[in-house]
Amino acid sequence: MEFYASLPASIRRTDCAIIGMFDDGTIAPDLKGVSGLDASNLTALHKTGDFGGRLGETLLLPPPSVKQLRVLLVGLGAPKALTRRHFRRVLKEAAQVVSKTSAKEVACYLSAIAVTDTSAYYRARYTAELFSAALYKIPDLKTAKKPKPSSLSRIACVVLDSSDLKEAERGARAGAAVGVGQSFSKDLANLPANVCTPTYLGTAAQKLARSSTKLHAQVLGPVQIKRLKMGSFLSVTRGSEEPPRLIVLEYRGGPRGQAPIVLVGKGVTFDTGGISLKDPGAMDEMKFDMSGAATVLGTIAALADAKASINVTAVVVACENMPSGRATKPGDIVTSMSGQTIEVLNTDAEGRLILCDAITYSRRLKPSVIIDVATLTGACVVALGSHNSGLFANDDDLANALLDAGKRTADTAWRLPLSEDYADQLRSNFADMANIGGREAGAITAAAFLAKFATGLRWAHLDIAGSGYVSGAAKSSTGRPVSLLVDYCLSQA
Ligand code: BES
Ligand code: MN
Ligand code: ZN
Repeated sequence: MEFYASLPASIRRTDCAIIGMFDDGTIAPDLKGVSGLDASNLTALHKTGDFGGRLGETLLLPPPSVKQLRVLLVGLGAPKALTRRHFRRVLKEAAQVVSKTSAKEVACYLSAIAVTDTSAYYRARYTAELFSAALYKIPDLKTAKKPKPSSLSRIACVVLDSSDLKEAERGARAGAAVGVGQSFSKDLANLPANVCTPTYLGTAAQKLARSSTKLHAQVLGPVQIKRLKMGSFLSVTRGSEEPPRLIVLEYRGGPRGQAPIVLVGKGVTFDTGGISLKDPGAMDEMKFDMSGAATVLGTIAALADAKASINVTAVVVACENMPSGRATKPGDIVTSMSGQTIEVLNTDAEGRLILCDAITYSRRLKPSVIIDVATLTGACVVALGSHNSGLFANDDDLANALLDAGKRTADTAWRLPLSEDYADQLRSNFADMANIGGREAGAITAAAFLAKFATGLRWAHLDIAGSGYVSGAAKSSTGRPVSLLVDYCLSQA
């Protein structure tokens, strides 16, 4: 799929023009004087009551002119109430309808509508991201014949003002790249754990690395991980037959010697809880416990696609968390790569046990900042639900930059506190720390645990246990926070 920005006059052919209408019948954007598009007959549809312009309402119409084969009319709701959130909803509805037609080339005029708190860049970017998301298909293993894939191939993000063209073009490119990264990430996360093993993740990173000379992958197995003295990481993998992987995927788009942004991803390809076994209820969803890994790899895929001028490295710690005769037991004490000892009071708090060694390893990469991404705690889901990723940081500038990137991309995060009081909850009688801090403030004590391994680094942690995937009937990966992370990295380029 190709996304580009265009003035109406430069569009050679369209199979479908997507145009908005407010609930008072006003066409948006204002198409008066735009050649080849006669909107007067559309206004008539409002007068007759055929189309009310309610938010998200859609109507697919036959050719109004020789230049357009179809028009998709989309309701924008009340003229004063078109917020960024409503605007994104409108784009999503439009993308869903048009993707089911046989249209190949589409001109989306919605990106030319002035919406508060958006720019030409982000309107084009949202268009590309939401169209890509609408076209995404889960790699399911259903044996029934697959519906024919959408024929959409080129989407013009229309601007009416030539001074917006450059920004919109940048936005369309960035959005297309985010789409690539999100699809990459969703594919990995949606796969079942008997397919998407740590080995599979390593191979996926290597395969991705072959797509660009700016990418380099290094995949380490159990022997090398032992040599690195990652005793905490290894304690989690002990019960599993699947060998662990430490995956380092570098994107070198920036100047030589520029300190990289390091993105650390939790790659637990299945989390049974280990000896502290989970309830069976929704245990299948623990195949999504590698969503952090999937999104940091997806972010690299997006940056490579965008040819971003920055150095970013993904460090993925991948393993299973299984019970067995050899599995780590509650009360066992392990030594992390940092040398700090940990009393494992609950083997289900495994994410922090693998991430702490990944953070220590990342020091070797001399990072400008480290951002870890993990489906870390159920407590974060209780606190924030699925709308915001939980954000923790030992650096206010980094935290604010990530919060801002989240706001701009509608892939939002909410910062939670970190302080010594929370770290005190991790006290152990037998080791430097315990791996759990009691029932209270579970998302925060998990972050406080990680903070003990990030001293002297500019570090942030994104808990995506709620935002990373959807449960229930629409069970699937969301690809979050690829959009936030790409935006942050581009803002640093
Ligand atoms: N992978 C889970 C966190 C999780 C829970 C993600 C629900 C998505 C949905 C993590 O490894 C875990 O089990 N955390 C425990 C920590 C507890 C034992 C301190 C949790 O949240 O219950
Ligand atoms: Mn767990
Ligand atoms: Zn887990």
